[in-house]
Amino acid sequence: MEEIDLPPGFSRPELIDFEGITMNHYFTNSWEKVQNFQARPDDILVATYPKAGTTWVSYILDLLYFGNTAPERQTSLPIYERVPFLEITIPKVLEGVEMVEKLTTTPRLIKTHLPVQLVPKSFWEQNCRVVYVGRNAKDTAVSYFHFEEMNLIHPDPGDWINFLQMFMDGKKIFGPWYDHVCGWWEKKQTYSNIHYMFFEDMVEDTGREVEHLCSFLGLSKAKEERERITKGVHFDAMKENKMTNYSTIPVMDFKISPFMRKGKVGDWKNHFTVAQNEKFDRHYKWKMKNTTLQFRTEI
Ligand code: A3P
Repeated sequence: MEEIDLPPGFSRPELIDFEGITMNHYFTNSWEKVQNFQARPDDILVATYPKAGTTWVSYILDLLYFGNTAPERQTSLPIYERVPFLEITIPKVLEGVEMVEKLTTTPRLIKTHLPVQLVPKSFWEQNCRVVYVGRNAKDTAVSYFHFEEMNLIHPDPGDWINFLQMFMDGKKIFGPWYDHVCGWWEKKQTYSNIHYMFFEDMVEDTGREVEHLCSFLGLSKAKEERERITKGVHFDAMKENKMTNYSTIPVMDFKISPFMRKGKVGDWKNHFTVAQNEKFDRHYKWKMKNTTLQFRTEI
């Protein structure tokens, strides 16, 4: 593993309140540029709450569009450069808007974790296609906890008990999981260009989900190609692949935890105590009482 080489003066940032959403400055520094971002009609936005399988779907999309035409991309360009993270700004490391604007490929694949109300309006004006991925709250929380421990641009999560309470209170970066998944679900009811996917479905049958993605995107791919992609995006393959496992990025400390950690549905059972689970379930029922959106916590 490469040594971590952080820019001078780098430290874990404070949380801030931004438009009612918990954030830190790495995601708001370039807000004017983000807000004024000019989407193109063929842009594809990959939108998720953190830890829902963003990288997985990003890689699938990249292979669907560029797997055959640009093989050198697969060996030389990390996924976070192929599918830039729009709102991130870590000076000299990752500058999302600039990275998107430098893309020479069509379509441009763009990642965001923004809640639906903060998405730059040009995406809606241009009627861009959006792929949203949701993951059940319990596994998301567990994955996010380990991610905050190792990702130095996030605040130190403290212990699991502290983290879980903050997650339930919606005080994690990108705000409450509950509002995020529900906000995008509601948007889908009035904006038909959203394909709402679930991490659990992808684990259950990746090939089926790749096929559904192709239908949404209007791509006709031979069965053999879909199977090749499905194999290439398997957890074990992505974990070994330096271009998809984030090992080339300086802000993550792999000595604490790998980015490609477990990739399972139900790992929450190894973290939640019985009491925590009961409390979480009661709170969840209350938070999600007005939505038709359903998640699976096991498959
Ligand atoms: P875990 O921490 O539970 O392992 P994101 O890309 O949104 O940050 O999501 C990261 C989560 O997706 C991590 O979850 C990671 O292991 C999981 N993941 C990434 N690629 C995967 C794959 N091919 N199969 C299963 N899970 C995958």
